[in-house]
Amino acid sequence: MTLEELREKSGKTLQDLDACAPEEILRLFEGVRELLEQDARQLATGPASSGGQDAARDEELRERWLSRKRGLLTLINEHWLKAAPKPLKPVAGVSFNKLHARACEIFPDNVAVAAGRKAKASSLPDLTLPGLRRPLGSLHPITQVQREIEEIFINLGFSVERGPEIESVYYNFDALNIPESHPSRDDWDTLYIDAQTVLRTHTSPVQVRALEKYGAPLYIIIPGKCYRRDNPDSTHSPMFHQIEGLAVGPNVTFADLKGTLDFFARRFFGEKTRTSFHPSFFPFTEPSGEVAISCPFCDGGGCRVCKHSGWIEVMGCGMVHPEVLRHGGVDPEQYSGWAFGLGVDRYAMMKFGIDDIQLFFQSDVRFLGQF
Ligand code: FA5
Repeated sequence: MTLEELREKSGKTLQDLDACAPEEILRLFEGVRELLEQDARQLATGPASSGGQDAARDEELRERWLSRKRGLLTLINEHWLKAAPKPLKPVAGVSFNKLHARACEIFPDNVAVAAGRKAKASSLPDLTLPGLRRPLGSLHPITQVQREIEEIFINLGFSVERGPEIESVYYNFDALNIPESHPSRDDWDTLYIDAQTVLRTHTSPVQVRALEKYGAPLYIIIPGKCYRRDNPDSTHSPMFHQIEGLAVGPNVTFADLKGTLDFFARRFFGEKTRTSFHPSFFPFTEPSGEVAISCPFCDGGGCRVCKHSGWIEVMGCGMVHPEVLRHGGVDPEQYSGWAFGLGVDRYAMMKFGIDDIQLFFQSDVRFLGQF
């Protein structure tokens, strides 16, 4: 029997079909059962998440057999069973019940509901899968170096002080004895916000701010961002980081400055490091100097990093100019002091062997993830 034939037969009574003996009724139901099993084999067996199409197809098959109004079993019940002559009712009833039970087994309740259940089950977490790793961030290499430098000075008794990045022309230049004619005040070197306000070009303005705030004696370091109108290249960035050091007290001498910076250089660059001081000029220190260290990469023998000189310049320094002490409200007759300023980014380049400062500011996790 084909499905078409069954469709036709399910609309007729047993008498119409000439099935008047129990064996004929059993055969008839046997034929129906075969068609039902054929449909059972067509059911989607894969996970319901394999697509809405499978679920729709399953629902169609279920409707074919169990639809309350037009399902084949409804029609069979109506025309074969209910309309059966009394003596044939038991055999027709038993056969129908078996068929119906099998259909319910094949199509459990509503297929769409079952499909939804399958989909839900497949969306539950698979506890056997390896866990998701959430990568932890780490401190930026410049922050790491800044903290390392801070640590060395904190252990020497210095405190950490901070100041504004948007600074007045007074603190950035005037209070530091930098005359109006000085080239660093030029529009081409400094980023002006207005005539009286700049993005600070160094951390030195915090020297006067801190002296005003705390007076002397004072031993501080000042880390922070600085800005200059420098074109970006491998060693320059318009935004960079400095650490300033300031020591003001009675009888503070250049020898203290040398001893402190020598100690710092050995701690940071390695115990074998030697320091060398050269005369220089800064308007806010007198005398002023540049500090060079023996190249930590070649121990002073000469290499690409130190440009074969054996030495690398690492900071500016000097004795605080009496004018600066005065601007900070400190009497230079009573107190003296020294100061230094270094570029943290360049220290980080040396420490990690990086030859392009721009890498620090490009936010590339492939680079930053290495530290
Ligand atoms: C100063 O800024 C002085 N204020 C330092 C100082 C403080 C001297 C206290 C005496 C007493 P200088 O302009 O040399 O100095 O800058 C200090 C360091 O900042 C440089 O050695 C360099 O490492 C770093 N630096 C300067 N400009 C840039 C830049 N565009 N990009 C990266 N680093 C820079």
